[in-house]
Amino acid sequence: MIYSQLRGIGHALPGNPVSNEVLAGRLAELGIETSDQWIRERTGITQRYLADPTTTTSMLAAEAGREALAHAGLAASDIDLVIVATSTPDIIFPSTACLVQKRLGIHQGPAFDIQAVCSGFLYALATADLYIRAGKATNALVVGAEVFSRLLDWRDRSTCVLFGDGAGAVVLRAESQPGILAHRLEARGEFENILRAAGGVHGGAIQGHPFLTMEGQAVFKMAVESLESSARQVLAEAGIAPEDLGLLIPHQANMRILQMTAKRLGIPMERVVVAVDRHANTSAASVPLAMHLAHQEGRLLPGQTLLLQGVGGGFTWGSLALRLAPDFA
Ligand code: ACO
Repeated sequence: MIYSQLRGIGHALPGNPVSNEVLAGRLAELGIETSDQWIRERTGITQRYLADPTTTTSMLAAEAGREALAHAGLAASDIDLVIVATSTPDIIFPSTACLVQKRLGIHQGPAFDIQAVCSGFLYALATADLYIRAGKATNALVVGAEVFSRLLDWRDRSTCVLFGDGAGAVVLRAESQPGILAHRLEARGEFENILRAAGGVHGGAIQGHPFLTMEGQAVFKMAVESLESSARQVLAEAGIAPEDLGLLIPHQANMRILQMTAKRLGIPMERVVVAVDRHANTSAASVPLAMHLAHQEGRLLPGQTLLLQGVGGGFTWGSLALRLAPDFA
C-alpha cells in the first residue's frame, strides 16, 4: 500500500506584526472605532501580519514552500505535484500554483489552485493524498497562502479586525507506512451567502462588491457544528478515540470557536494548537501556519496523531487525521 507521509513544514509571515492597538489607531484615522479589548475578548486575536502592497500570495507561498522542501530534505527536482489553496491569487490566471512552480524552479508534474476559502488547505491536502495513494505523485508540495487583507473593507470593523496575511506549506511523500489515515470534505452551497466576497470581473472592470462580508453569528454556529461532526467522523474512520488524539490543529478563525469545538469533543485546550492570537485568521494559510508554530514549539512528536480541520466560505469544511512518522523531526 502507498500512503502519504508528512515530511516537511514551512511558513511565511509578511513584515512585522500589527498589534490590536496599532490597528485601532489606524482605523481611528478613518473614523472607525474599535479597541484591543473588543477584539481580544470576542476573538482572542492580539495581532496579525499584513502584507505591503508589493507582496503577493505567490511570494509568500514560495517562501513557505522553500522552507518545507528544506525541512523534508528534498530538492525542487523531487516535487511532482504542487497544489496551492488560496482565495487571493496574484492574478486571475495562470494559477498561483504555476507561479510558485516557477519561483521554486519546479519543472515537472501538475500544478493547480484550490479555492475553498478557509477550508482550502484541507481540500488541497486531501487532494494531494488521493494523488499519492493513486500512484500519480511521489512528492507533493501543498501550500495554503493568502493576502486576505486585500479583500477587506477597512471601514467595516466587524470583519477587518479578524484577518491577516501569510502562508504555510507542507511536503507529503509517498511511503509504505501511514501517514494520512482518513479525511472527509464537505460543502453546502446553499449557505454561500453567509460569508462571501461577491465581486467579479466583467469587461475588464470589477463588478459587484469585491470585499468580504459575513454574517458572524451564522458562521459561528455552522463552524462549531460542522467541526464537531466532521471531527467525530474522521477520528472514527481513523480508529482514534478523541481522548487519545495527540493534537487538534483547527482552522484559526476565532478563539471561541476553538474552545467550543474542543469542549464538545472532550479534548483539553492543552492539546489544541492555538495560533489565532498571533496570526489572526489567515484563511487557507491558517492550518499550516498553526502546524508550523506547533513544530517550532517542539509540540509535533514522532508517532503522534494529529487532526487538522478547516471551515469557511462556501460553506465548506473538512477534517484530516494523520500519524507522524516514527522518525519525524
Ligand atoms: N470593535 C468594536 N465593536 C465592534 C466591532 C469592533 N471591531 N465589530 C463589531 N462591533 C460591535 C457591533 O457594532 C455591535 O455593536 P451594537 O451592539 O452596538 O450593534 C457589537 O459589537 C456586537 O456585534 P456582533 O456582530 O453581534 O458581535 P458578535 O458578538 O457576534 O461578535 C464576531 C462578532 C467576533 C465576528 C462573532 O460573530 C464571531 O465570532 N463569528 C464567527 C465568525 C468568525 O470568526 N469569522 C471569521 C471568518 S469565517 C471563518 O474563518 C470560518
